[in-house]
Amino acid sequence: MSTTQLELLRKYNVPGPRYTSYPTVPYWDTTPTEAQWIERVANSICGDTAGTGASIYIHIPFCSSLCTYCGCNMRVTRNHGLVMPYVETLLKEYGMYLERLGRDSLLIGEIHLGGGTPTFLRPEELDRLIDGLLSRATVAKDASLSVEGDPRTTTREQLEVLRRYGFNRISLGVQDFDPRVQDIVNRTQSEEQVRVVTETAREMAFRSVNYDLIYGLPLQTLESITATMDAVVRLKPDRIAFYSYAHVPWIKPSQRRFTEADLPEGDAKRALYELGRTRLEAAGYVEVGMDHFALPTDDLLLAAKEGRLHRNFMGYTPAFTRPLIGLGVSSIGDAGDAFVQNEKNLQQYEERIQKGELPIQRGHLLDEEDCVLRGHILKLMTRLETHWDGAHDYTPFLDSVAPRLEELRKDRLLQADGTSIRVTAEGRAYLRNVCMAFDARLIRRAPATQLFSQTV
Ligand SMILES: C[S@@+](CC[C@H](N)C(=O)[O-])C[C@H]1O[C@@H](n2cnc3c(N)ncnc32)[C@H](O)[C@@H]1O
Ligand code: SF4
Repeated sequence: MSTTQLELLRKYNVPGPRYTSYPTVPYWDTTPTEAQWIERVANSICGDTAGTGASIYIHIPFCSSLCTYCGCNMRVTRNHGLVMPYVETLLKEYGMYLERLGRDSLLIGEIHLGGGTPTFLRPEELDRLIDGLLSRATVAKDASLSVEGDPRTTTREQLEVLRRYGFNRISLGVQDFDPRVQDIVNRTQSEEQVRVVTETAREMAFRSVNYDLIYGLPLQTLESITATMDAVVRLKPDRIAFYSYAHVPWIKPSQRRFTEADLPEGDAKRALYELGRTRLEAAGYVEVGMDHFALPTDDLLLAAKEGRLHRNFMGYTPAFTRPLIGLGVSSIGDAGDAFVQNEKNLQQYEERIQKGELPIQRGHLLDEEDCVLRGHILKLMTRLETHWDGAHDYTPFLDSVAPRLEELRKDRLLQADGTSIRVTAEGRAYLRNVCMAFDARLIRRAPATQLFSQTV
């Protein structure tokens, strides 16, 4: 990295949100009642004149072993007996939505099975879950049905079940191929294991294979990232999420199992990203939004080119679908002007469903300012630019945004003219910092303790 790049990094590398939502979860302060939430979901369904359908996120919290870096809501267990009751509870929750919405079925444009590890489920458990859902749904044309798979536990039989129901995308947790890194984070998996799952998915005509990779893990070096990227390029997934390791040991104590001194930080961490990016671009991948790459043939890149790229709690997607109904422990729902999150504790989640209640633990009703700022943050995260010129995209808070971005402008990380912001190529690394200037809630009430990981 050049001296200027290093100086910028030191100046702007501060704790900050990842903006999968606005307001960000720690700032949610107006939990809707069940009736208010259902009303917002119903309005959102009625507003879907394009017929793109709702998005369903299903959280499977179980994992068979602990990766010590993990920031997800998951539960390590060897007790497979937990699974079928959980699947039945998920289906009951879906049924409760249908009943409250007064519908026999729902038009669905997107299903995402996430976790934890959805491939913890045996083929017959996946079959029961998806059959139970789709027997009360209509799948929209061009729907995206996706699953997160752990290459260590994903089998041909599981993929066959998913494919039979129309699943067309798979995302594999790869993280890093270096044996020393894998060892220290307690996640050993070979290139061969990943290759077998990738080829099986391709053979079955899954439309897109994504790999999750992480930079900033303990013991990663420029050499180890080079070797990981060489393997990734050999396997050629359609998409890659190259995540910045979020070190939040105050929320995830298992991240204390490795020594902080082994973590590449600041300049060293960013250098890993820059190297990874260079290798991926040399192999034909194009950077999309923040931390994502796609081959020119993948829908994500086509959507980015046509200005259709969208970002939600699951990351970047090529289609805009709403509402998002989250089923399962800790899942998040989004009706456009309201968010909810389910109970994060498995037992409490199941008890509330058994009592016949939607298991909403917290949420937020967006006010007018939230809605306008949410729109601008979404545009920045997906198009790297935004502007305001009318009542619908203006709120008085925007008058204070340009002065707050002045320093970034002087450093040529963005261009601004008072009512528009365009992030430059060099500024892409600081996208989270740019969004922070639009984050009225963060600015009005700075957190007293560290809530967020570093922005770079
Ligand atoms: C639910 S997991 C993917 C599926 C499966 N559990 C697996 O690991 O193969 C979601 C992804 O989140 C990412 N992730 C987890 N903890 C993270 C952290 N602390 N920082 C950045 N990314 C993280 C990993 O890349 C992981 O693949
Ligand atoms: S990274 Fe995936 S497999 Fe590992 S603990 Fe987290 S959710 Fe489970």
